[in-house]
Amino acid sequence: MNDQPRRRPANPHRRPKKDPVRFLAFEALRAVDERDAYANLVLPPLLKKARAKGDFDGRDAALATELVYGTLRRQGTYDAIVAACIDRPLREVDPPVLDVLNMGVHQLLGTRIPTHAAVSASVELARVVLGEGRAKFVNAVLRKVTAHDLDGWVEKVAPPYDQDAEDHLAVVHSHPRWIVSALWDALGGGRAGIEDLLEADNERPEVTLVARPGRSTTEELVKALGEDNSLPGRWSPYAVRMAEGGEPGALDAVRESRAGVQDEGSQLVAAALAAAPVEGRDTRWLDGCAGPGGKAALLAALAAERGATLLAAEKQPHRARLVERALAGNPGPYQVITADGTRPPWLPGTFDRILMDVPCSGLGALRRRPESRWRRRAEDLEAFAPLQRGLLREALKAVRVGGVVGYATCSPHLAETRVVVEDVLKGRGGEPVEAEWIDARPLMSGVPALGEGPDIQLWPHLHGTDAMYLALLRRTG
Ligand SMILES: C[S@@+](CC[C@H](N)C(=O)[O-])C[C@H]1O[C@@H](n2cnc3c(N)ncnc32)[C@H](O)[C@@H]1O
Repeated sequence: MNDQPRRRPANPHRRPKKDPVRFLAFEALRAVDERDAYANLVLPPLLKKARAKGDFDGRDAALATELVYGTLRRQGTYDAIVAACIDRPLREVDPPVLDVLNMGVHQLLGTRIPTHAAVSASVELARVVLGEGRAKFVNAVLRKVTAHDLDGWVEKVAPPYDQDAEDHLAVVHSHPRWIVSALWDALGGGRAGIEDLLEADNERPEVTLVARPGRSTTEELVKALGEDNSLPGRWSPYAVRMAEGGEPGALDAVRESRAGVQDEGSQLVAAALAAAPVEGRDTRWLDGCAGPGGKAALLAALAAERGATLLAAEKQPHRARLVERALAGNPGPYQVITADGTRPPWLPGTFDRILMDVPCSGLGALRRRPESRWRRRAEDLEAFAPLQRGLLREALKAVRVGGVVGYATCSPHLAETRVVVEDVLKGRGGEPVEAEWIDARPLMSGVPALGEGPDIQLWPHLHGTDAMYLALLRRTG
Protein backbone atom coordinates (compact mmCIF):
# COMPACT_ATOMS: atom_id res chain seq x y z
CA MET A 1 0.00 0.00 0.00
CA ASN A 2 1.29 3.37 -0.86
CA ASP A 3 0.80 5.67 2.07
CA GLN A 4 2.47 8.65 0.43
CA PRO A 5 0.02 11.59 0.29
CA ARG A 6 -1.47 11.85 -3.16
CA ARG A 7 -0.01 14.77 -5.08
CA ARG A 8 -2.43 17.04 -6.90
CA PRO A 9 -1.65 17.45 -10.58
CA ALA A 10 0.60 20.48 -11.15
CA ASN A 11 -1.86 22.04 -13.57
CA PRO A 12 -5.36 21.15 -12.39
CA HIS A 13 -7.69 20.99 -15.33
CA ARG A 14 -10.50 23.25 -14.27
CA ARG A 15 -13.21 24.03 -16.74
CA PRO A 16 -12.93 27.56 -18.09
CA LYS A 17 -15.71 29.82 -16.87
CA LYS A 18 -17.91 31.42 -19.49
CA ASP A 19 -18.36 35.15 -18.96
CA PRO A 20 -21.66 35.90 -20.74
CA VAL A 21 -20.77 39.50 -21.61
CA ARG A 22 -17.42 38.75 -23.26
CA PHE A 23 -18.79 35.60 -24.86
CA LEU A 24 -21.65 37.52 -26.44
CA ALA A 25 -19.34 40.30 -27.63
CA PHE A 26 -17.07 37.67 -29.19
CA GLU A 27 -20.04 36.04 -30.93
CA ALA A 28 -21.03 39.40 -32.39
CA LEU A 29 -17.48 40.12 -33.60
CA ARG A 30 -17.32 36.71 -35.25
CA ALA A 31 -20.64 37.31 -37.03
CA VAL A 32 -19.34 40.65 -38.33
CA ASP A 33 -16.18 38.99 -39.62
CA GLU A 34 -17.55 35.69 -40.92
CA ARG A 35 -20.96 36.62 -42.22
CA ASP A 36 -20.31 40.25 -43.13
CA ALA A 37 -23.02 41.07 -40.60
CA TYR A 38 -23.60 44.63 -39.43
CA ALA A 39 -22.84 45.12 -35.75
CA ASN A 40 -25.88 47.35 -35.27
CA LEU A 41 -28.12 44.59 -36.63
CA VAL A 42 -26.43 41.58 -35.08
CA LEU A 43 -26.11 42.92 -31.56
CA PRO A 44 -29.70 43.82 -30.57
CA PRO A 45 -31.13 40.27 -31.00
CA LEU A 46 -28.19 38.76 -29.12
CA LEU A 47 -28.72 41.22 -26.26
CA LYS A 48 -32.45 40.56 -26.27
CA LYS A 49 -31.87 36.82 -26.02
CA ALA A 50 -29.37 37.23 -23.18
CA ARG A 51 -31.79 39.47 -21.29
CA ALA A 52 -34.65 37.03 -21.80
CA LYS A 53 -32.50 34.22 -20.39
CA GLY A 54 -31.78 36.36 -17.34
CA ASP A 55 -28.03 36.39 -18.16
CA PHE A 56 -27.83 40.15 -18.56
CA ASP A 57 -28.86 43.38 -16.93
CA GLY A 58 -28.67 46.86 -18.48
CA ARG A 59 -25.04 47.37 -17.42
CA ASP A 60 -23.99 44.09 -18.99
CA ALA A 61 -25.71 45.08 -22.23
CA ALA A 62 -23.92 48.45 -22.18
CA LEU A 63 -20.55 46.74 -21.62
CA ALA A 64 -21.12 44.18 -24.39
CA THR A 65 -22.10 46.99 -26.77
CA GLU A 66 -19.01 49.00 -25.84
CA LEU A 67 -16.76 45.98 -26.34
CA VAL A 68 -18.16 45.26 -29.80
CA TYR A 69 -18.35 48.83 -31.08
CA GLY A 70 -15.08 49.94 -29.52
CA THR A 71 -13.15 46.92 -30.78
CA LEU A 72 -14.46 47.36 -34.31
CA ARG A 73 -13.93 51.11 -34.45
CA ARG A 74 -10.43 51.00 -33.06
CA GLN A 75 -9.40 47.90 -34.99
CA GLY A 76 -6.81 49.78 -37.08
CA THR A 77 -4.97 51.05 -34.01
CA TYR A 78 -5.31 47.78 -32.11
CA ASP A 79 -4.09 45.70 -35.06
CA ALA A 80 -0.95 47.84 -35.17
CA ILE A 81 -0.40 47.34 -31.43
CA VAL A 82 -0.93 43.57 -31.57
CA ALA A 83 1.40 43.39 -34.59
CA ALA A 84 4.10 45.04 -32.49
CA CYS A 85 3.66 42.42 -29.74
CA ILE A 86 3.98 39.27 -31.86
CA ASP A 87 6.83 37.86 -33.88
CA ARG A 88 4.91 36.86 -36.98
CA PRO A 89 2.86 38.83 -39.49
CA LEU A 90 -0.59 39.80 -38.26
CA ARG A 91 -2.26 38.12 -41.25
CA GLU A 92 -1.03 34.77 -39.92
CA VAL A 93 -3.06 35.18 -36.73
CA ASP A 94 -6.42 33.42 -37.06
CA PRO A 95 -9.32 35.87 -37.11
CA PRO A 96 -11.02 34.48 -33.94
CA VAL A 97 -7.73 34.85 -32.05
CA LEU A 98 -7.36 38.39 -33.33
CA ASP A 99 -10.90 39.18 -32.19
CA VAL A 100 -10.13 38.00 -28.65
CA LEU A 101 -6.84 39.93 -28.70
CA ASN A 102 -8.33 43.15 -30.03
CA MET A 103 -11.19 42.96 -27.57
CA GLY A 104 -8.58 42.50 -24.83
CA VAL A 105 -6.58 45.47 -26.10
CA HIS A 106 -9.75 47.55 -26.11
CA GLN A 107 -10.42 46.64 -22.48
CA LEU A 108 -6.83 47.47 -21.55
CA LEU A 109 -6.38 50.70 -23.49
CA GLY A 110 -9.86 51.96 -24.33
CA THR A 111 -11.89 51.37 -21.14
CA ARG A 112 -11.53 51.81 -17.40
CA ILE A 113 -11.55 48.07 -16.76
CA PRO A 114 -8.62 47.35 -14.40
CA THR A 115 -5.60 45.75 -16.08
CA HIS A 116 -5.71 42.42 -14.24
CA ALA A 117 -9.45 42.04 -14.91
CA ALA A 118 -9.02 42.86 -18.60
CA VAL A 119 -6.23 40.30 -19.02
CA SER A 120 -7.81 37.53 -16.98
CA ALA A 121 -11.24 37.95 -18.59
CA SER A 122 -9.65 37.81 -22.05
CA VAL A 123 -7.58 34.73 -21.22
CA GLU A 124 -10.63 33.04 -19.76
CA LEU A 125 -12.61 33.85 -22.90
CA ALA A 126 -9.75 32.46 -25.00
CA ARG A 127 -9.85 29.21 -23.00
CA VAL A 128 -13.58 28.89 -23.70
CA VAL A 129 -13.59 29.77 -27.38
CA LEU A 130 -10.05 29.00 -28.58
CA GLY A 131 -8.64 26.35 -26.24
CA GLU A 132 -5.81 26.18 -23.75
CA GLY A 133 -2.84 26.59 -26.14
CA ARG A 134 -4.14 29.74 -27.77
CA ALA A 135 -5.20 31.12 -24.40
CA LYS A 136 -1.52 31.09 -23.43
CA PHE A 137 -0.69 33.05 -26.57
CA VAL A 138 -3.44 35.58 -25.73
CA ASN A 139 -2.06 35.88 -22.22
CA ALA A 140 1.49 36.48 -23.46
CA VAL A 141 0.42 39.12 -25.99
CA LEU A 142 -1.87 41.00 -23.63
CA ARG A 143 0.82 41.09 -20.94
CA LYS A 144 3.06 42.84 -23.44
CA VAL A 145 0.26 45.28 -24.23
CA THR A 146 0.06 46.29 -20.54
CA ALA A 147 3.53 47.86 -20.86
CA HIS A 148 2.09 51.16 -22.18
CA ASP A 149 -1.11 53.15 -22.20
CA LEU A 150 -2.87 54.04 -25.47
CA ASP A 151 -0.84 57.23 -26.05
CA GLY A 152 2.39 55.38 -25.35
CA TRP A 153 1.50 52.66 -27.83
CA VAL A 154 0.39 55.07 -30.51
CA GLU A 155 3.67 56.90 -30.22
CA LYS A 156 5.49 53.61 -30.70
CA VAL A 157 3.50 52.12 -33.56
CA ALA A 158 2.29 55.09 -35.66
CA PRO A 159 4.74 56.47 -38.22
CA PRO A 160 5.69 60.08 -37.39
CA TYR A 161 3.29 62.69 -38.78
CA ASP A 162 6.10 64.53 -40.55
CA GLN A 163 7.20 61.40 -42.32
CA ASP A 164 3.79 60.24 -43.55
CA ALA A 165 0.85 62.32 -42.35
CA GLU A 166 -1.86 60.04 -43.76
CA ASP A 167 -0.36 56.85 -42.41
CA HIS A 168 0.10 58.50 -39.05
CA LEU A 169 -3.54 59.61 -38.91
CA ALA A 170 -4.71 56.20 -40.16
CA VAL A 171 -3.06 54.42 -37.23
CA VAL A 172 -3.79 57.03 -34.57
CA HIS A 173 -7.46 57.44 -35.50
CA SER A 174 -8.08 53.94 -36.79
CA HIS A 175 -9.22 54.59 -40.35
CA PRO A 176 -8.00 52.96 -43.57
CA ARG A 177 -5.43 55.20 -45.19
CA TRP A 178 -7.44 55.70 -48.40
CA ILE A 179 -10.38 56.98 -46.35
CA VAL A 180 -8.16 59.42 -44.44
CA SER A 181 -6.94 60.67 -47.77
CA ALA A 182 -10.43 60.99 -49.31
CA LEU A 183 -11.88 62.72 -46.25
CA TRP A 184 -8.98 65.14 -46.12
CA ASP A 185 -9.40 66.00 -49.82
CA ALA A 186 -13.07 66.75 -49.20
CA LEU A 187 -12.52 68.68 -45.97
CA GLY A 188 -9.42 70.64 -47.00
CA GLY A 189 -7.46 72.58 -44.41
CA GLY A 190 -4.71 71.52 -42.07
CA ARG A 191 -4.08 68.87 -39.44
CA ALA A 192 -6.50 70.07 -36.76
CA GLY A 193 -9.64 69.74 -38.89
CA ILE A 194 -8.98 66.26 -40.20
CA GLU A 195 -7.97 65.05 -36.74
CA ASP A 196 -11.24 66.39 -35.31
CA LEU A 197 -13.20 64.71 -38.08
CA LEU A 198 -11.51 61.32 -37.67
CA GLU A 199 -11.98 61.50 -33.92
CA ALA A 200 -15.67 62.37 -34.37
CA ASP A 201 -16.03 59.19 -36.48
CA ASN A 202 -14.90 57.25 -33.42
CA GLU A 203 -17.59 58.72 -31.16
CA ARG A 204 -20.91 57.00 -30.80
CA PRO A 205 -23.57 59.36 -32.14
CA GLU A 206 -26.50 60.26 -29.93
CA VAL A 207 -29.93 59.10 -31.03
CA THR A 208 -31.89 61.93 -32.65
CA LEU A 209 -35.62 61.89 -33.22
CA VAL A 210 -37.68 63.80 -35.76
CA ALA A 211 -41.14 65.06 -34.94
CA ARG A 212 -42.83 64.92 -38.34
CA PRO A 213 -44.64 68.24 -38.75
CA GLY A 214 -48.40 68.11 -38.54
CA ARG A 215 -48.13 64.64 -36.98
CA SER A 216 -46.14 65.14 -33.80
CA THR A 217 -44.29 67.95 -32.05
CA THR A 218 -40.95 68.27 -30.31
CA GLU A 219 -42.97 69.06 -27.15
CA GLU A 220 -44.72 65.70 -27.39
CA LEU A 221 -41.38 63.92 -27.75
CA VAL A 222 -39.79 65.79 -24.84
CA LYS A 223 -42.79 64.94 -22.68
CA ALA A 224 -42.62 61.27 -23.62
CA LEU A 225 -38.85 61.05 -23.11
CA GLY A 226 -38.77 63.15 -19.95
CA GLU A 227 -36.86 66.44 -19.57
CA ASP A 228 -33.75 64.63 -18.34
CA ASN A 229 -33.50 62.46 -21.42
CA SER A 230 -34.09 65.15 -24.04
CA LEU A 231 -32.01 67.86 -25.58
CA PRO A 232 -33.22 70.26 -28.24
CA GLY A 233 -32.01 69.72 -31.80
CA ARG A 234 -28.88 71.64 -32.70
CA TRP A 235 -30.22 72.90 -36.01
CA SER A 236 -33.42 71.23 -37.12
CA PRO A 237 -36.71 72.60 -35.73
CA TYR A 238 -38.09 69.05 -35.80
CA ALA A 239 -35.27 67.39 -33.82
CA VAL A 240 -35.06 66.13 -30.24
CA ARG A 241 -31.86 64.41 -29.09
CA MET A 242 -32.02 61.58 -26.59
CA ALA A 243 -29.56 62.57 -23.88
CA GLU A 244 -29.34 59.23 -22.13
CA GLY A 245 -30.25 56.87 -24.94
CA GLY A 246 -33.00 54.30 -24.50
CA GLU A 247 -35.36 52.56 -26.84
CA PRO A 248 -36.97 55.03 -29.29
CA GLY A 249 -39.35 52.31 -30.52
CA ALA A 250 -41.03 52.38 -27.11
CA LEU A 251 -42.46 55.87 -27.81
CA ASP A 252 -46.04 55.98 -29.11
CA ALA A 253 -45.17 58.67 -31.66
CA VAL A 254 -42.38 56.52 -33.13
CA ARG A 255 -44.53 53.38 -33.16
CA GLU A 256 -47.23 55.29 -35.02
CA SER A 257 -44.70 56.77 -37.55
CA ARG A 258 -45.64 60.28 -36.42
CA ALA A 259 -42.03 60.60 -35.35
CA GLY A 260 -38.91 58.65 -36.24
CA VAL A 261 -35.22 58.21 -35.61
CA GLN A 262 -33.35 60.52 -37.99
CA ASP A 263 -29.99 62.23 -37.94
CA GLU A 264 -30.27 66.01 -38.01
CA GLY A 265 -28.24 66.11 -41.22
CA SER A 266 -30.95 64.14 -43.01
CA GLN A 267 -33.64 66.37 -41.53
CA LEU A 268 -31.81 69.46 -42.77
CA VAL A 269 -31.43 68.02 -46.28
CA ALA A 270 -35.13 67.15 -46.61
CA ALA A 271 -36.19 70.50 -45.15
CA ALA A 272 -33.81 72.46 -47.43
CA LEU A 273 -35.16 70.71 -50.51
CA ALA A 274 -38.72 71.49 -49.38
CA ALA A 275 -37.80 75.15 -48.81
CA ALA A 276 -35.99 75.72 -52.13
CA PRO A 277 -37.78 78.35 -54.23
CA VAL A 278 -39.66 77.03 -57.29
CA GLU A 279 -41.54 79.19 -59.72
CA GLY A 280 -45.22 78.42 -60.23
CA ARG A 281 -46.87 75.09 -59.49
CA ASP A 282 -45.56 73.25 -56.44
CA THR A 283 -47.80 70.25 -55.97
CA ARG A 284 -45.90 67.25 -57.35
CA TRP A 285 -42.96 66.03 -55.32
CA LEU A 286 -40.79 62.97 -55.92
CA ASP A 287 -38.38 61.13 -53.65
CA GLY A 288 -36.58 59.00 -56.23
CA CYS A 289 -34.43 56.88 -53.85
CA ALA A 290 -36.77 56.65 -50.92
CA GLY A 291 -35.87 53.50 -48.96
CA PRO A 292 -36.01 53.07 -46.03
CA GLY A 293 -38.09 56.24 -45.92
CA GLY A 294 -36.66 58.66 -43.37
CA LYS A 295 -36.46 61.64 -45.69
CA ALA A 296 -39.60 60.60 -47.56
CA ALA A 297 -41.59 60.67 -44.30
CA LEU A 298 -40.41 64.20 -43.50
CA LEU A 299 -41.03 65.34 -47.09
CA ALA A 300 -44.50 63.77 -47.10
CA ALA A 301 -45.39 65.59 -43.87
CA LEU A 302 -44.13 68.90 -45.28
CA ALA A 303 -45.92 68.25 -48.59
CA ALA A 304 -49.17 67.60 -46.71
CA GLU A 305 -48.91 70.98 -44.99
CA ARG A 306 -48.59 72.64 -48.40
CA GLY A 307 -51.20 70.68 -50.32
CA ALA A 308 -48.59 68.77 -52.37
CA THR A 309 -48.42 65.04 -53.14
CA LEU A 310 -45.32 62.93 -52.63
CA LEU A 311 -44.41 60.01 -54.86
CA ALA A 312 -41.84 57.85 -53.08
CA ALA A 313 -39.97 55.49 -55.43
CA GLU A 314 -37.55 52.78 -54.39
CA LYS A 315 -35.91 50.06 -56.45
CA GLN A 316 -35.76 47.32 -53.82
CA PRO A 317 -39.21 45.90 -53.00
CA HIS A 318 -38.31 45.12 -49.37
CA ARG A 319 -37.08 48.67 -48.87
CA ALA A 320 -40.21 50.03 -50.57
CA ARG A 321 -42.18 48.21 -47.86
CA LEU A 322 -40.16 50.07 -45.22
CA VAL A 323 -41.10 53.32 -46.96
CA GLU A 324 -44.79 52.28 -46.80
CA ARG A 325 -44.40 51.77 -43.09
CA ALA A 326 -42.66 55.13 -42.56
CA LEU A 327 -45.34 57.00 -44.51
CA ALA A 328 -48.39 55.18 -43.11
CA GLY A 329 -50.86 57.64 -41.63
CA ASN A 330 -49.37 60.67 -43.41
CA PRO A 331 -52.15 63.28 -43.39
CA GLY A 332 -51.71 64.28 -47.05
CA PRO A 333 -51.72 62.29 -50.28
CA TYR A 334 -48.73 60.12 -51.12
CA GLN A 335 -47.88 57.00 -53.09
CA VAL A 336 -45.08 54.47 -52.70
CA ILE A 337 -43.93 52.55 -55.76
CA THR A 338 -41.17 50.11 -56.59
CA ALA A 339 -39.29 51.67 -59.51
CA ASP A 340 -35.82 52.05 -60.96
CA GLY A 341 -34.96 55.73 -61.04
CA THR A 342 -32.60 55.20 -63.99
CA ARG A 343 -35.47 53.78 -66.07
CA PRO A 344 -38.32 55.70 -64.61
CA PRO A 345 -41.99 55.00 -65.25
CA TRP A 346 -42.86 58.71 -65.00
CA LEU A 347 -42.89 61.16 -67.92
CA PRO A 348 -40.29 63.90 -68.37
CA GLY A 349 -41.20 67.22 -66.76
CA THR A 350 -43.67 65.67 -64.31
CA PHE A 351 -42.43 66.96 -60.96
CA ASP A 352 -41.92 70.31 -59.27
CA ARG A 353 -39.49 69.12 -56.61
CA ILE A 354 -37.31 66.01 -56.54
CA LEU A 355 -34.97 64.52 -53.97
CA MET A 356 -32.34 62.06 -55.24
CA ASP A 357 -30.64 60.72 -52.13
CA VAL A 358 -28.47 58.33 -54.10
CA PRO A 359 -26.78 55.09 -53.03
CA CYS A 360 -23.21 55.90 -51.97
CA SER A 361 -20.20 54.68 -50.02
CA GLY A 362 -21.63 55.95 -46.73
CA LEU A 363 -18.29 57.49 -45.76
CA GLY A 364 -20.24 60.27 -44.06
CA ALA A 365 -21.84 57.87 -41.58
CA LEU A 366 -18.81 55.93 -40.36
CA ARG A 367 -19.60 56.74 -36.73
CA ARG A 368 -22.88 54.83 -37.07
CA ARG A 369 -21.48 51.61 -38.52
CA PRO A 370 -18.27 50.71 -36.75
CA GLU A 371 -17.25 47.98 -39.18
CA SER A 372 -18.08 49.78 -42.43
CA ARG A 373 -14.75 51.59 -42.79
CA TRP A 374 -12.94 48.22 -42.97
CA ARG A 375 -15.35 46.80 -45.53
CA ARG A 376 -15.40 49.61 -48.01
CA ARG A 377 -12.85 49.60 -50.83
CA ALA A 378 -11.79 52.55 -52.97
CA GLU A 379 -13.05 50.55 -55.97
CA ASP A 380 -16.62 50.66 -54.58
CA LEU A 381 -16.77 54.29 -55.64
CA GLU A 382 -16.32 53.29 -59.27
CA ALA A 383 -19.29 50.97 -58.97
CA PHE A 384 -21.52 53.77 -57.64
CA ALA A 385 -20.37 56.37 -60.19
CA PRO A 386 -22.59 55.47 -63.19
CA LEU A 387 -25.64 54.88 -60.97
CA GLN A 388 -25.25 58.24 -59.22
CA ARG A 389 -24.90 60.06 -62.56
CA GLY A 390 -27.78 58.13 -64.10
CA LEU A 391 -30.11 58.91 -61.21
CA LEU A 392 -29.24 62.61 -61.22
CA ARG A 393 -29.59 62.85 -65.00
CA GLU A 394 -33.02 61.21 -64.92
CA ALA A 395 -34.10 63.46 -62.04
CA LEU A 396 -33.19 66.53 -64.07
CA LYS A 397 -35.35 65.21 -66.91
CA ALA A 398 -38.21 64.34 -64.58
CA VAL A 399 -38.45 67.84 -63.11
CA ARG A 400 -40.28 70.54 -65.06
CA VAL A 401 -38.51 73.71 -66.17
CA GLY A 402 -38.29 75.97 -63.11
CA GLY A 403 -38.55 73.02 -60.71
CA VAL A 404 -35.83 71.92 -58.30
CA VAL A 405 -33.74 68.77 -57.85
CA GLY A 406 -31.81 68.00 -54.67
CA TYR A 407 -28.88 65.62 -55.12
CA ALA A 408 -27.84 64.18 -51.75
CA THR A 409 -25.34 61.65 -50.43
CA CYS A 410 -24.29 60.54 -46.99
CA SER A 411 -20.72 60.72 -48.18
CA PRO A 412 -18.44 63.73 -48.44
CA HIS A 413 -16.20 62.00 -51.01
CA LEU A 414 -15.73 64.46 -53.88
CA ALA A 415 -16.11 61.67 -56.44
CA GLU A 416 -19.66 61.10 -55.17
CA THR A 417 -20.61 64.72 -54.56
CA ARG A 418 -19.54 67.75 -56.57
CA VAL A 419 -17.79 65.80 -59.30
CA VAL A 420 -21.02 63.91 -60.07
CA VAL A 421 -23.06 67.11 -60.25
CA GLU A 422 -20.49 68.87 -62.44
CA ASP A 423 -20.19 65.89 -64.78
CA VAL A 424 -23.96 65.73 -65.24
CA LEU A 425 -24.31 69.48 -65.78
CA LYS A 426 -21.54 69.43 -68.36
CA GLY A 427 -23.03 66.42 -70.12
CA ARG A 428 -19.97 64.20 -69.54
CA GLY A 429 -20.95 60.62 -70.39
CA GLY A 430 -24.50 61.63 -71.45
CA GLU A 431 -26.57 64.42 -72.92
CA PRO A 432 -26.08 67.81 -71.28
CA VAL A 433 -28.96 68.99 -69.13
CA GLU A 434 -29.95 72.58 -68.83
CA ALA A 435 -29.89 73.37 -65.16
CA GLU A 436 -28.34 75.90 -62.82
CA TRP A 437 -27.03 75.73 -59.28
CA ILE A 438 -29.11 77.15 -56.45
CA ASP A 439 -27.20 78.38 -53.42
CA ALA A 440 -28.37 75.89 -50.80
CA ARG A 441 -26.76 77.65 -47.83
CA PRO A 442 -29.53 80.18 -47.08
CA LEU A 443 -31.92 77.20 -46.90
CA MET A 444 -30.10 75.96 -43.81
CA SER A 445 -30.28 79.24 -41.99
CA GLY A 446 -28.50 79.36 -38.67
CA VAL A 447 -26.19 76.47 -39.56
CA PRO A 448 -22.57 77.69 -39.63
CA ALA A 449 -19.57 76.47 -41.65
CA LEU A 450 -21.52 75.17 -44.65
CA GLY A 451 -18.64 75.74 -47.04
CA GLU A 452 -18.20 78.08 -49.97
CA GLY A 453 -21.42 76.99 -51.68
CA PRO A 454 -23.48 76.77 -53.71
CA ASP A 455 -23.66 73.19 -52.42
CA ILE A 456 -23.55 72.15 -48.77
CA GLN A 457 -21.35 69.74 -46.90
CA LEU A 458 -22.20 68.91 -43.30
CA TRP A 459 -19.58 67.35 -40.99
CA PRO A 460 -19.75 65.27 -37.80
CA HIS A 461 -17.06 67.32 -36.04
CA LEU A 462 -18.52 70.71 -37.03
CA HIS A 463 -22.26 70.05 -36.95
CA GLY A 464 -22.66 66.87 -34.90
CA THR A 465 -24.44 65.33 -37.91
CA ASP A 466 -23.53 62.71 -40.47
CA ALA A 467 -21.45 64.15 -43.31
CA MET A 468 -24.42 64.74 -45.63
CA TYR A 469 -23.95 66.51 -48.95
CA LEU A 470 -26.64 68.48 -50.76
CA ALA A 471 -26.59 70.16 -54.18
CA LEU A 472 -29.71 72.01 -55.35
CA LEU A 473 -30.29 72.50 -59.06
CA ARG A 474 -33.02 74.29 -60.96
CA ARG A 475 -33.95 73.06 -64.42
CA THR A 476 -33.66 75.91 -66.87
CA GLY A 477 -34.56 74.39 -70.21
C1 LIG B 1 -29.12 56.44 -49.54
S1 LIG B 1 -30.46 55.39 -49.65
C2 LIG B 1 -31.81 56.50 -49.48
C3 LIG B 1 -32.12 56.84 -48.05
C4 LIG B 1 -33.49 57.48 -47.92
N1 LIG B 1 -33.61 58.68 -48.72
C5 LIG B 1 -33.83 57.80 -46.48
O1 LIG B 1 -33.64 58.95 -46.06
O2 LIG B 1 -34.33 56.93 -45.77
C6 LIG B 1 -30.52 55.01 -51.35
C7 LIG B 1 -31.70 54.13 -51.75
O3 LIG B 1 -31.75 54.07 -53.17
C8 LIG B 1 -32.17 52.79 -53.55
N2 LIG B 1 -31.79 52.59 -54.97
C9 LIG B 1 -30.67 52.04 -55.47
N3 LIG B 1 -30.69 52.06 -56.82
C10 LIG B 1 -31.86 52.66 -57.17
C11 LIG B 1 -32.47 52.95 -58.42
N4 LIG B 1 -31.87 52.66 -59.57
N5 LIG B 1 -33.68 53.52 -58.40
C12 LIG B 1 -34.30 53.82 -57.24
N6 LIG B 1 -33.78 53.55 -56.03
C13 LIG B 1 -32.57 52.99 -56.00
C14 LIG B 1 -31.48 51.89 -52.57
O4 LIG B 1 -32.12 50.62 -52.52
C15 LIG B 1 -31.58 52.69 -51.28
O5 LIG B 1 -32.75 52.32 -50.59
